[in-house]
Order: sequence, then C-alpha cells, then structure tokens
Amino acid sequence: MQMNAAQRIALERDPVDAFDLADHEQGVARLAAGEPLAYIVGEQPFREGVFVVTPDVLIPRPDTEVLVACALEHLPSRDGMKVLDLGTGSGCIAMSIALERPNAEVTAVDASPAALEVARLNAQRLRAANVQFVRSDWFEGLVDGRFDVIVANPPYIATADPHLEDLTHEPRAALVAGPDGLDAIRRIVAGAADYLEPGGVLLVEHGYDQRPAVLALFQAAGLLDVCGVDDLAGRARVVVGRRPGRP
Ligand SMILES: C[S@@+](CC[C@H](N)C(=O)[O-])C[C@H]1O[C@@H](n2cnc3c(N)ncnc32)[C@H](O)[C@@H]1O
Repeated sequence: MQMNAAQRIALERDPVDAFDLADHEQGVARLAAGEPLAYIVGEQPFREGVFVVTPDVLIPRPDTEVLVACALEHLPSRDGMKVLDLGTGSGCIAMSIALERPNAEVTAVDASPAALEVARLNAQRLRAANVQFVRSDWFEGLVDGRFDVIVANPPYIATADPHLEDLTHEPRAALVAGPDGLDAIRRIVAGAADYLEPGGVLLVEHGYDQRPAVLALFQAAGLLDVCGVDDLAGRARVVVGRRPGRP
C-alpha cells in the first residue's frame, strides 16, 4: 500500500523528504481549517474495506454499518439474489454487501456522476465484480427488474437544520432533503413496491428523530412487518419493511 506523508510519519517508516513535509503541513492546515480528515487522507474505513473518498461523496459513517448488517440478515447466500443500493455515494453499502455476498447481483444508483466515479473506483480497488452502476434519480433510470433487497441511506437532513453548519465540506445533495428532511425517503418508500420482488425487503436509514414518520410512510405504502432498528449508540436509525407476497 502506498502511504502518504502523515501515515509514514506516524509509522516512522522511510525518510520523509521536503516535498512530503510540505504535503503534511498543508494537510495539517486543512485539518485546522475544519476539513474532515477523510478528505485530506482520501480514505475512510467502513466494515471490512477502506474506501476512497473525495468531496463528491459523503464520508461513510460507522452508524451506516447497522444498515448493512440488517440488509445482510435479509439476504441469504443463494445465487442470483438481487440487491439495489439507492444513493450509493462512495459505494460503501453496495460494496460491503457485494463482498459479503459474492453470489448476489448488486445495482448501485446515484444521481451524481462524480459520486458514481468514486464508487466505480472503489469497486475496482476492492475487486467487487458483482456490482453494476446506474446514474438515476432514485428509481427513474432503472429500466426494469425487481430486487430481493432495496437498501438506502438517502439524504435526510431538513433544509434549515442547524447541524448543516458543521457539514459544509460534504455535498449538500448527499445531506439535505426538503423542509422536514423526508423528501427523499418519501420518494423511495413510495416507489419501492414496484421494484421489490414479492416478499422483498426495503431498509432505509433515517435521522434519530424521524422514526415515527418513517414507520408511518412504510405502513402507508402497504409494507408488512415494519419495524425500527437502533444503531450502536442506541439511536433510532433504520426502518425495515417487507413487500406482501411470498419470496
Ligand atoms: C447520505 S448520502 C449516502 C452515501 C452512501 N450510501 C453512504 O451511506 O455513505 C446520499 C446519496 O444519495 C445521492 N442522491 C441524492 N439525491 C439523489 C437522487 N435524487 N437520486 C439518486 N441518488 C441521489 C447523493 O448523491 C448521495 O451520494
């Protein structure tokens, strides 16, 4: 693995030359100016992988590992299971599922061409051959097909949420979803039944205070066995529901 100056200094490997030192000092200055470390080093670990990140993609959060773990629980290791990851960003969800279920066929969707480039790069680096990428406004660009599992970590922050002040380095389209933060989740839940196999499962990550609203959206869409799942810190984080019918 090629190490950057910060990693080489930290590990006391190889002499660090003047060029590296300038690079390192620039990195420290960016950090002091509030830029997230992941954008400065260009990587972020997530589950079993280390993902390339650029300012075109959300930095993968440990909270989202709960969403992946839940999705895997609903995904038997059978051949040909189809998975859709909506709003793939760096591809951390799609790739984690693809690597842990090599027999599954994973489709990763994003509206941002720049994000899809990063996700493709991550698929190459992690040798995830069972992922295909589609540029699409949620379901709009999907030609046909149904999925056994649809998973999404969509934007879910309200337009006027003061927390956005601390997130100015990440893409706004990855964070913000209308006045109550639920615009993207509404569209995903409303569209999911047409793209799920009978008995297929939808899993959506949401904000800590959005569980009642998201449960209601799942129920209004006719999904069954609707329930909430907490993250590792005990906060409401994911809602799961199943399309009626036999798998
Ligand atoms: C919260 S980020 C999640 C990124 C990644 N899945 C993760 O968990 O780290 C939401 C993603 O949804 C994408 N997105 C926003 N609006 C979209 C739309 N209308 N259709 C498809 N993707 C969209 C953004 O570009 C962004 O990559």
